[in-house]
Amino acid sequence: MELKAPPGVFDIIPSDSKEVWKSSHLWEWLEKTMRELAKCYCLQEIRTPIFEKTELFCRVVGETSDIVTKEMYSFVDRGDRDLTLRPEGTAPVIRAFIEHRLGEKQGEQRLFYIAPMFRYERSQAGRYRQHHQVGVEIIGSKAPETDAELIDMAYTFYTRLGLKNLSIAINSLGNKESRQKYKEALKQYLEAHVDALSKDSQIRLEKNPLRILDSKSPQDQAIIAKAPSILDFLDEESKTHFEETLACLKALNIPFHVNPMLVRGLDYYNQTVFEIVSTNLGAQNSIGGGGRYDGLIKELGGPDLSACGFGSGMERILQALVAQEAKLPLPNTPALFLIPLSEEAKKKAFLIQKQLRSANISVQMDSSGKKLNKAMGIANQSGAKFLAVIGDDELTTQTFALKDMHSGIATKVPFADLQKFLIDNRKPHV
Ligand code: HAM
Repeated sequence: MELKAPPGVFDIIPSDSKEVWKSSHLWEWLEKTMRELAKCYCLQEIRTPIFEKTELFCRVVGETSDIVTKEMYSFVDRGDRDLTLRPEGTAPVIRAFIEHRLGEKQGEQRLFYIAPMFRYERSQAGRYRQHHQVGVEIIGSKAPETDAELIDMAYTFYTRLGLKNLSIAINSLGNKESRQKYKEALKQYLEAHVDALSKDSQIRLEKNPLRILDSKSPQDQAIIAKAPSILDFLDEESKTHFEETLACLKALNIPFHVNPMLVRGLDYYNQTVFEIVSTNLGAQNSIGGGGRYDGLIKELGGPDLSACGFGSGMERILQALVAQEAKLPLPNTPALFLIPLSEEAKKKAFLIQKQLRSANISVQMDSSGKKLNKAMGIANQSGAKFLAVIGDDELTTQTFALKDMHSGIATKVPFADLQKFLIDNRKPHV
């Protein structure tokens, strides 16, 4: 058996020099940035299981969606239960919200998650069978300020990471009634062009004509361009909600454009939908998307609460940053690397290492007993800021010659002052 990960999945490893975005320290940084942002926006973390009952996704994501029809990792467990690896984060969060009666708490529930998702998609650059999302769901607010707050949150997250060249598209799908009217008008229009539509779109025409607007097929594009706009079908309430959302975005100076063809691939949306695209990625250029799903919680047996959220693909964020040659954090490296030259020196170095670590200083020691030049090679590779070789002289004088690995300059430091010296000369890692 060839020991390789299955197609469409990948490992996140320390400092991947070929594919930098797979380096674990970048993932750690992304997660840390999200957690800091979550504090500012008063979000609390929610962690749900990696698998759920299959029925949950069929009901929430939609029986005709690509995810449910083609992409779910479903299996029957030993107790004959139909289960599915979570393809997206909203359905499990809503399930947990209802199950734990979180709606009985006062005010909004403001939740975030950082989690792997599983979709059996055709694997290609930017599209994986296990991908990771940071996601936010705000439950219990009808206000257009909340829609704008979510877009602001996503945009702030990206800009804090240093992402540039972003394009934010926004649309309104209206409420159920206005969407139904639009669906009928759209269907009528598309039926007149049915023969010119792609095979996939012809199938969708009956079941879910709105999804045709999402089609990337050049054949469909020409027809879609002349289709009626959903914005002409919005009722007063939906129109006002959308206009107020846009006004909030303008007030926050967030750049956006209205795209009346934006529908998104999940069935639970109504009112606002949005997508953020990076112009530095290829075909899979959506780094995040979301929208409102008023009515879904009630439909699933929970309280009648409005809700909206977004999800953002972590792989694509990192890939876009690398493509833009953004300034990225360096991997964590030791403050000090110790090379003992004798058994006695090793015992001493071992204790020093522990003392320094107790003071929260990162220290690594060569305990392999390799020749000095080999050990120096390891020290170099570790990226340590300082190097200390401990031999008989150092043990006798109780002093190190601490070599700055960058400048090559050595400084005499008594053992007793080592901790202070390293703290005073701490290097910023990020
Ligand atoms: P989504 O648009 O399906 O929305 O996924 C969100 C983001 O996840 C995408 O914009 C993309 O960056 C990333 N993504 C999706 N599939 C893949 C894949 N196969 N490989 C790599 N990245 C991928 C949702 O999942 C909704 N639950 C978002 C949401 C939350 N709406 C409301 N609340």
